[in-house]
Amino acid sequence: MVSYKQHYQGFISQHRERLHCAPHSHHYWPDVTQQAQLDYWLDSARGVDHKWDAIFSERIPDVQRRLAALLHYPHPEQWVFASNTHELLYRLMSCFAANQPLHILTTDSEFHSFSRQLRRLQERPNVRVTSISTQPFASFPERWQAAVQAGSYQLIFISQVFYNSGVIAPAVETWLPWVEPSTQVVIDGYHGCGAIPTDLSGVADRVFYLAGAYKYLQAGEGCCFMAVPKHCSLRPEYTGWFADFANLAKPQAGAVEYAADGYRFAGATMDFSALYRLQAVLRWWQQDGLTVAHMHRHVQQLQQAFLQVIARAQHPLLNESNRLFHAGADHGHFFTYQLPSAEQVTALALQLAAAGIDTDYRGDRLRFGFALYHDAADYQRLEKALTAA
Ligand SMILES: Cc1ncc(COP(=O)(O)O)c(C=O)c1O
Repeated sequence: MVSYKQHYQGFISQHRERLHCAPHSHHYWPDVTQQAQLDYWLDSARGVDHKWDAIFSERIPDVQRRLAALLHYPHPEQWVFASNTHELLYRLMSCFAANQPLHILTTDSEFHSFSRQLRRLQERPNVRVTSISTQPFASFPERWQAAVQAGSYQLIFISQVFYNSGVIAPAVETWLPWVEPSTQVVIDGYHGCGAIPTDLSGVADRVFYLAGAYKYLQAGEGCCFMAVPKHCSLRPEYTGWFADFANLAKPQAGAVEYAADGYRFAGATMDFSALYRLQAVLRWWQQDGLTVAHMHRHVQQLQQAFLQVIARAQHPLLNESNRLFHAGADHGHFFTYQLPSAEQVTALALQLAAAGIDTDYRGDRLRFGFALYHDAADYQRLEKALTAA
Protein backbone atom coordinates (compact mmCIF):
# COMPACT_ATOMS: atom_id res chain seq x y z
CA MET A 1 0.00 0.00 0.00
CA VAL A 2 1.35 3.44 -0.97
CA SER A 3 1.98 5.86 1.89
CA TYR A 4 0.96 9.51 1.64
CA LYS A 5 2.38 10.64 4.97
CA GLN A 6 5.08 12.72 3.30
CA HIS A 7 2.39 15.20 2.23
CA TYR A 8 1.34 15.92 5.82
CA GLN A 9 4.67 16.48 7.55
CA GLY A 10 3.70 19.86 8.99
CA PHE A 11 0.85 18.39 11.03
CA ILE A 12 2.38 14.94 11.64
CA SER A 13 5.58 16.44 13.04
CA GLN A 14 3.52 18.11 15.77
CA HIS A 15 1.99 14.76 16.84
CA ARG A 16 4.62 12.11 16.22
CA GLU A 17 3.44 9.98 19.11
CA ARG A 18 -0.24 10.02 18.28
CA LEU A 19 -2.61 8.26 15.89
CA HIS A 20 -5.17 10.77 14.70
CA CYS A 21 -8.41 8.87 14.08
CA ALA A 22 -10.61 11.96 13.75
CA PRO A 23 -9.97 13.19 10.19
CA HIS A 24 -13.71 12.96 9.54
CA SER A 25 -14.01 15.70 12.11
CA HIS A 26 -10.87 17.85 11.85
CA HIS A 27 -8.68 16.66 9.01
CA TYR A 28 -4.92 17.32 9.05
CA TRP A 29 -3.96 19.96 6.50
CA PRO A 30 -1.51 18.79 3.81
CA ASP A 31 1.76 20.69 3.46
CA VAL A 32 0.63 22.44 0.26
CA THR A 33 -1.78 24.52 2.35
CA GLN A 34 1.05 26.30 4.16
CA GLN A 35 2.24 28.20 1.09
CA ALA A 36 -1.40 28.89 0.18
CA GLN A 37 -1.91 30.55 3.54
CA LEU A 38 1.17 32.71 2.96
CA ASP A 39 -0.03 33.52 -0.55
CA TYR A 40 -3.20 35.01 0.89
CA TRP A 41 -1.10 37.26 3.09
CA LEU A 42 1.14 38.21 0.18
CA ASP A 43 -1.79 38.88 -2.17
CA SER A 44 -3.34 41.06 0.52
CA ALA A 45 -0.10 42.98 0.98
CA ARG A 46 0.47 43.40 -2.75
CA GLY A 47 -3.09 44.04 -3.81
CA VAL A 48 -4.55 45.85 -0.78
CA ASP A 49 -7.82 47.27 -2.21
CA HIS A 50 -7.22 45.44 -5.48
CA LYS A 51 -6.77 41.99 -4.01
CA TRP A 52 -10.50 41.46 -4.51
CA ASP A 53 -10.11 41.77 -8.29
CA ALA A 54 -7.79 38.77 -8.29
CA ILE A 55 -9.95 36.84 -5.83
CA PHE A 56 -13.14 37.35 -7.81
CA SER A 57 -11.73 37.10 -11.31
CA GLU A 58 -9.13 34.34 -10.79
CA ARG A 59 -9.22 32.44 -7.49
CA ILE A 60 -12.97 31.93 -7.14
CA PRO A 61 -13.56 30.89 -10.77
CA ASP A 62 -10.61 28.48 -10.54
CA VAL A 63 -11.94 26.82 -7.39
CA GLN A 64 -15.43 26.75 -8.91
CA ARG A 65 -14.01 24.89 -11.92
CA ARG A 66 -12.07 22.47 -9.71
CA LEU A 67 -15.11 21.70 -7.55
CA ALA A 68 -17.19 21.22 -10.68
CA ALA A 69 -14.62 18.75 -12.02
CA LEU A 70 -14.41 16.92 -8.68
CA LEU A 71 -18.16 16.41 -8.50
CA HIS A 72 -18.92 16.13 -12.23
CA TYR A 73 -20.96 19.29 -12.02
CA PRO A 74 -21.60 20.96 -15.39
CA HIS A 75 -21.95 24.62 -14.31
CA PRO A 76 -18.95 25.97 -12.32
CA GLU A 77 -20.56 29.42 -11.98
CA GLN A 78 -23.32 27.90 -9.85
CA TRP A 79 -21.01 27.39 -6.83
CA VAL A 80 -21.22 29.97 -4.08
CA PHE A 81 -18.94 30.24 -1.02
CA ALA A 82 -19.44 31.09 2.65
CA SER A 83 -17.53 30.58 5.89
CA ASN A 84 -19.76 27.72 7.04
CA THR A 85 -22.62 25.63 5.73
CA HIS A 86 -25.07 27.01 8.25
CA GLU A 87 -24.90 30.42 6.63
CA LEU A 88 -25.75 28.98 3.20
CA LEU A 89 -28.42 26.76 4.63
CA TYR A 90 -30.11 29.61 6.45
CA ARG A 91 -29.96 31.75 3.34
CA LEU A 92 -31.90 29.02 1.59
CA MET A 93 -34.38 28.72 4.44
CA SER A 94 -34.97 32.47 4.30
CA CYS A 95 -36.42 32.00 0.81
CA PHE A 96 -39.54 30.52 2.39
CA ALA A 97 -42.03 33.14 3.58
CA ALA A 98 -42.66 32.98 7.33
CA ASN A 99 -46.43 33.19 6.79
CA GLN A 100 -46.69 30.33 4.30
CA PRO A 101 -46.87 26.61 5.10
CA LEU A 102 -43.42 25.04 5.19
CA HIS A 103 -43.43 21.25 5.24
CA ILE A 104 -39.94 19.77 5.48
CA LEU A 105 -38.94 16.16 4.89
CA THR A 106 -35.70 15.14 6.52
CA THR A 107 -34.07 12.42 8.66
CA ASP A 108 -33.27 12.06 12.34
CA SER A 109 -29.53 11.99 11.49
CA GLU A 110 -28.77 15.45 10.16
CA PHE A 111 -25.86 17.47 11.53
CA HIS A 112 -26.56 20.16 14.15
CA SER A 113 -26.20 23.05 11.67
CA PHE A 114 -29.50 21.91 10.25
CA SER A 115 -31.17 20.04 13.10
CA ARG A 116 -30.77 22.79 15.70
CA GLN A 117 -31.97 25.42 13.25
CA LEU A 118 -34.91 23.20 12.39
CA ARG A 119 -35.89 22.75 16.03
CA ARG A 120 -35.93 26.52 16.43
CA LEU A 121 -37.93 27.03 13.24
CA GLN A 122 -40.49 24.53 14.44
CA GLU A 123 -41.54 27.09 17.03
CA ARG A 124 -43.21 28.86 14.10
CA PRO A 125 -46.80 27.68 13.55
CA ASN A 126 -46.32 27.40 9.78
CA VAL A 127 -43.48 24.85 9.99
CA ARG A 128 -44.15 21.12 9.90
CA VAL A 129 -41.42 18.50 9.85
CA THR A 130 -41.55 14.87 8.77
CA SER A 131 -38.43 13.15 10.05
CA ILE A 132 -37.50 9.63 9.00
CA SER A 133 -35.32 7.50 11.25
CA THR A 134 -32.19 6.26 9.51
CA GLN A 135 -32.21 3.08 11.61
CA PRO A 136 -32.74 0.31 10.77
CA PHE A 137 -30.40 1.10 7.90
CA ALA A 138 -31.50 -1.85 5.78
CA SER A 139 -35.04 -0.52 5.40
CA PHE A 140 -34.16 3.19 5.24
CA PRO A 141 -34.10 3.46 1.42
CA GLU A 142 -37.59 2.00 1.25
CA ARG A 143 -38.98 4.12 4.09
CA TRP A 144 -37.38 7.27 2.65
CA GLN A 145 -38.79 6.57 -0.79
CA ALA A 146 -42.26 6.04 0.71
CA ALA A 147 -42.02 9.34 2.60
CA VAL A 148 -40.90 11.19 -0.54
CA GLN A 149 -43.87 9.78 -2.44
CA ALA A 150 -46.41 10.24 0.35
CA GLY A 151 -46.12 13.91 1.07
CA SER A 152 -46.11 17.33 -0.42
CA TYR A 153 -43.06 19.25 0.78
CA GLN A 154 -41.56 22.64 0.25
CA LEU A 155 -38.11 21.39 1.29
CA ILE A 156 -36.34 18.04 1.41
CA PHE A 157 -33.04 17.98 3.30
CA ILE A 158 -30.87 14.86 3.60
CA SER A 159 -27.18 14.05 4.03
CA GLN A 160 -25.15 12.22 1.42
CA VAL A 161 -23.40 10.32 4.24
CA PHE A 162 -24.90 10.43 7.74
CA TYR A 163 -22.57 12.10 10.24
CA ASN A 164 -23.64 9.89 13.15
CA SER A 165 -23.02 6.53 11.45
CA GLY A 166 -21.06 6.92 8.21
CA VAL A 167 -23.87 5.13 6.37
CA ILE A 168 -24.40 6.42 2.83
CA ALA A 169 -27.91 7.69 2.06
CA PRO A 170 -29.77 6.47 -1.03
CA ALA A 171 -28.45 8.38 -4.05
CA VAL A 172 -30.61 11.39 -4.82
CA GLU A 173 -31.22 10.30 -8.40
CA THR A 174 -33.00 7.17 -7.14
CA TRP A 175 -35.78 9.14 -5.41
CA LEU A 176 -35.71 12.51 -7.19
CA PRO A 177 -38.20 11.45 -9.91
CA TRP A 178 -40.91 11.29 -7.21
CA VAL A 179 -40.27 14.78 -5.86
CA GLU A 180 -42.74 17.49 -6.85
CA PRO A 181 -41.17 20.09 -9.19
CA SER A 182 -41.86 22.93 -6.71
CA THR A 183 -39.97 21.21 -3.84
CA GLN A 184 -36.45 22.43 -3.06
CA VAL A 185 -34.01 19.56 -2.51
CA VAL A 186 -30.83 19.96 -0.46
CA ILE A 187 -28.10 17.36 -0.12
CA ASP A 188 -25.71 17.93 2.79
CA GLY A 189 -22.64 16.53 1.09
CA TYR A 190 -20.14 17.35 3.84
CA HIS A 191 -19.23 13.72 4.56
CA GLY A 192 -19.32 12.74 0.90
CA CYS A 193 -17.45 15.54 -0.85
CA GLY A 194 -13.85 14.52 -1.51
CA ALA A 195 -14.47 11.11 0.09
CA ILE A 196 -17.09 9.23 -1.89
CA PRO A 197 -16.99 9.34 -5.71
CA THR A 198 -19.85 11.69 -6.56
CA ASP A 199 -21.40 12.52 -9.89
CA LEU A 200 -23.86 15.39 -9.79
CA SER A 201 -24.21 15.74 -13.56
CA GLY A 202 -27.68 14.18 -13.64
CA VAL A 203 -29.15 16.29 -10.83
CA ALA A 204 -27.24 19.55 -11.12
CA ASP A 205 -30.21 21.53 -12.42
CA ARG A 206 -32.45 20.31 -9.65
CA VAL A 207 -30.70 19.99 -6.28
CA PHE A 208 -28.70 22.19 -3.92
CA TYR A 209 -25.46 20.45 -2.90
CA LEU A 210 -23.83 21.75 0.26
CA ALA A 211 -20.36 20.91 1.61
CA GLY A 212 -17.15 22.39 2.94
CA ALA A 213 -13.39 22.07 3.06
CA TYR A 214 -12.82 21.23 6.72
CA LYS A 215 -13.03 17.46 6.34
CA TYR A 216 -12.02 15.38 3.33
CA LEU A 217 -11.00 18.42 1.26
CA GLN A 218 -8.36 18.99 3.95
CA ALA A 219 -8.25 22.78 3.73
CA GLY A 220 -9.42 23.71 7.21
CA GLU A 221 -12.29 25.88 8.34
CA GLY A 222 -13.68 28.87 6.50
CA CYS A 223 -14.51 27.58 3.00
CA CYS A 224 -17.94 26.05 2.60
CA PHE A 225 -19.84 26.04 -0.64
CA MET A 226 -23.16 25.26 -2.24
CA ALA A 227 -24.16 24.38 -5.79
CA VAL A 228 -27.29 26.30 -6.71
CA PRO A 229 -29.46 24.72 -9.42
CA LYS A 230 -29.20 26.56 -12.73
CA HIS A 231 -32.14 28.92 -13.40
CA CYS A 232 -32.94 29.04 -9.68
CA SER A 233 -35.08 32.12 -9.08
CA LEU A 234 -35.31 31.97 -5.30
CA ARG A 235 -34.78 35.26 -3.47
CA PRO A 236 -33.01 34.75 -0.13
CA GLU A 237 -34.30 37.21 2.43
CA TYR A 238 -31.06 36.79 4.36
CA THR A 239 -28.96 38.34 1.63
CA GLY A 240 -25.62 40.13 1.48
CA TRP A 241 -24.18 42.64 -0.92
CA PHE A 242 -22.05 40.01 -2.71
CA ALA A 243 -25.33 38.53 -4.04
CA ASP A 244 -25.56 41.17 -6.75
CA PHE A 245 -21.97 42.32 -6.96
CA ALA A 246 -22.05 43.02 -10.71
CA ASN A 247 -24.79 45.64 -10.36
CA LEU A 248 -23.51 47.53 -7.33
CA ALA A 249 -22.73 50.58 -9.42
CA LYS A 250 -26.41 50.93 -10.39
CA PRO A 251 -28.79 52.89 -8.14
CA GLN A 252 -29.70 50.62 -5.22
CA ALA A 253 -33.41 51.27 -4.99
CA GLY A 254 -36.58 49.37 -5.82
CA ALA A 255 -36.79 45.59 -5.90
CA VAL A 256 -33.72 43.77 -4.61
CA GLU A 257 -32.02 42.06 -7.53
CA TYR A 258 -29.89 38.91 -7.44
CA ALA A 259 -27.08 37.49 -9.53
CA ALA A 260 -28.19 35.03 -12.19
CA ASP A 261 -25.69 32.39 -11.02
CA GLY A 262 -24.86 30.72 -7.70
CA TYR A 263 -23.82 34.06 -6.25
CA ARG A 264 -27.49 34.94 -5.68
CA PHE A 265 -26.90 33.03 -2.44
CA ALA A 266 -23.77 34.95 -1.48
CA GLY A 267 -23.33 36.92 1.72
CA ALA A 268 -20.74 39.58 2.39
CA THR A 269 -17.03 40.14 3.09
CA MET A 270 -15.26 37.01 4.25
CA ASP A 271 -11.73 35.75 4.81
CA PHE A 272 -10.81 33.86 1.62
CA SER A 273 -7.62 32.30 2.95
CA ALA A 274 -9.42 28.95 3.27
CA LEU A 275 -10.35 29.18 -0.41
CA TYR A 276 -6.63 29.58 -1.20
CA ARG A 277 -5.89 26.47 0.86
CA LEU A 278 -8.66 24.54 -0.89
CA GLN A 279 -7.29 25.59 -4.25
CA ALA A 280 -3.86 24.29 -3.24
CA VAL A 281 -5.29 20.90 -2.17
CA LEU A 282 -7.30 20.50 -5.36
CA ARG A 283 -4.25 21.49 -7.47
CA TRP A 284 -2.12 18.92 -5.64
CA TRP A 285 -4.71 16.20 -6.22
CA GLN A 286 -4.85 17.07 -9.90
CA GLN A 287 -1.06 17.18 -10.29
CA ASP A 288 -0.57 13.83 -8.53
CA GLY A 289 -3.57 12.15 -10.16
CA LEU A 290 -5.22 11.66 -6.78
CA THR A 291 -8.83 11.12 -7.76
CA VAL A 292 -11.63 10.68 -5.22
CA ALA A 293 -12.10 7.13 -6.51
CA HIS A 294 -8.44 6.37 -5.84
CA MET A 295 -8.51 7.89 -2.35
CA HIS A 296 -11.74 6.07 -1.57
CA ARG A 297 -10.14 2.74 -2.48
CA HIS A 298 -7.15 3.60 -0.31
CA VAL A 299 -9.41 4.37 2.65
CA GLN A 300 -11.35 1.16 2.06
CA GLN A 301 -8.08 -0.76 2.36
CA LEU A 302 -7.28 1.06 5.60
CA GLN A 303 -10.75 0.19 6.87
CA GLN A 304 -10.18 -3.50 6.15
CA ALA A 305 -6.86 -3.40 8.02
CA PHE A 306 -8.60 -1.64 10.93
CA LEU A 307 -11.39 -4.25 11.04
CA GLN A 308 -8.82 -7.05 11.16
CA VAL A 309 -7.23 -5.40 14.17
CA ILE A 310 -10.62 -5.07 15.87
CA ALA A 311 -11.40 -8.73 15.14
CA ARG A 312 -8.09 -9.87 16.64
CA ALA A 313 -8.47 -7.66 19.73
CA GLN A 314 -11.81 -9.26 20.73
CA HIS A 315 -12.70 -6.25 22.82
CA PRO A 316 -16.00 -6.52 24.75
CA LEU A 317 -17.28 -3.15 23.47
CA LEU A 318 -15.35 -2.29 20.35
CA ASN A 319 -16.45 -5.11 18.11
CA GLU A 320 -18.47 -5.86 15.01
CA SER A 321 -21.75 -6.23 16.90
CA ASN A 322 -21.60 -2.55 17.95
CA ARG A 323 -20.52 -1.11 14.61
CA LEU A 324 -23.12 0.82 12.61
CA PHE A 325 -23.22 -0.05 8.95
CA HIS A 326 -25.56 -1.04 6.17
CA ALA A 327 -24.55 -4.59 5.25
CA GLY A 328 -23.41 -4.98 1.68
CA ALA A 329 -23.38 -1.26 0.97
CA ASP A 330 -20.51 1.17 0.44
CA HIS A 331 -19.62 3.20 3.55
CA GLY A 332 -18.27 6.65 4.44
CA HIS A 333 -14.75 7.36 5.68
CA PHE A 334 -15.35 6.71 9.36
CA PHE A 335 -16.69 3.86 11.45
CA THR A 336 -19.14 4.45 14.27
CA TYR A 337 -19.55 2.19 17.28
CA GLN A 338 -22.72 2.53 19.29
CA LEU A 339 -22.07 1.38 22.86
CA PRO A 340 -24.63 0.63 25.57
CA SER A 341 -24.05 3.95 27.35
CA ALA A 342 -22.49 7.37 26.86
CA GLU A 343 -20.38 6.78 29.98
CA GLN A 344 -18.78 3.70 28.39
CA VAL A 345 -18.04 5.69 25.25
CA THR A 346 -16.38 8.47 27.23
CA ALA A 347 -14.34 6.02 29.29
CA LEU A 348 -13.15 4.12 26.21
CA ALA A 349 -12.33 7.31 24.28
CA LEU A 350 -10.30 8.61 27.24
CA GLN A 351 -8.50 5.28 27.56
CA LEU A 352 -7.61 5.40 23.87
CA ALA A 353 -6.52 9.03 24.14
CA ALA A 354 -4.19 8.05 27.01
CA ALA A 355 -2.72 5.43 24.66
CA GLY A 356 -2.12 8.10 21.99
CA ILE A 357 -5.20 7.43 19.85
CA ASP A 358 -7.46 10.38 19.12
CA THR A 359 -11.07 9.57 18.30
CA ASP A 360 -14.23 11.57 18.27
CA TYR A 361 -17.28 10.82 20.40
CA ARG A 362 -20.74 12.13 21.06
CA GLY A 363 -23.30 10.53 23.34
CA ASP A 364 -23.25 6.78 22.95
CA ARG A 365 -21.27 6.83 19.68
CA LEU A 366 -17.54 6.54 19.18
CA ARG A 367 -16.15 7.34 15.73
CA PHE A 368 -12.88 6.33 14.07
CA GLY A 369 -11.93 8.09 10.85
CA PHE A 370 -9.49 7.10 8.10
CA ALA A 371 -7.24 9.28 6.01
CA LEU A 372 -4.37 9.35 3.55
CA TYR A 373 -2.03 10.16 6.43
CA HIS A 374 -2.62 6.73 7.96
CA ASP A 375 -0.76 3.55 7.10
CA ALA A 376 -2.29 0.16 7.87
CA ALA A 377 0.59 -0.54 10.26
CA ASP A 378 -0.50 2.43 12.41
CA TYR A 379 -3.43 0.39 13.72
CA GLN A 380 -1.07 -1.88 15.63
CA ARG A 381 -1.08 0.87 18.23
CA LEU A 382 -4.83 0.36 18.53
CA GLU A 383 -4.48 -3.40 18.87
CA LYS A 384 -1.98 -2.89 21.67
CA ALA A 385 -4.25 -0.43 23.45
CA LEU A 386 -7.31 -2.68 23.18
CA THR A 387 -5.61 -5.89 24.24
CA ALA A 388 -3.85 -4.17 27.15
CA ALA A 389 -7.24 -3.06 28.51
C1 LIG B 1 -22.94 16.53 7.87
C2 LIG B 1 -22.33 17.85 8.26
N1 LIG B 1 -22.81 18.98 7.72
C3 LIG B 1 -22.26 20.18 8.03
C4 LIG B 1 -21.19 20.28 8.91
C5 LIG B 1 -20.56 21.62 9.21
O1 LIG B 1 -21.46 22.60 9.47
P1 LIG B 1 -21.06 24.13 9.58
O2 LIG B 1 -20.24 24.49 8.39
O3 LIG B 1 -22.39 24.82 9.57
O4 LIG B 1 -20.32 24.33 10.87
C6 LIG B 1 -20.69 19.13 9.50
C7 LIG B 1 -19.55 19.23 10.44
O5 LIG B 1 -19.17 18.35 11.14
C8 LIG B 1 -21.28 17.89 9.18
O6 LIG B 1 -20.82 16.75 9.74
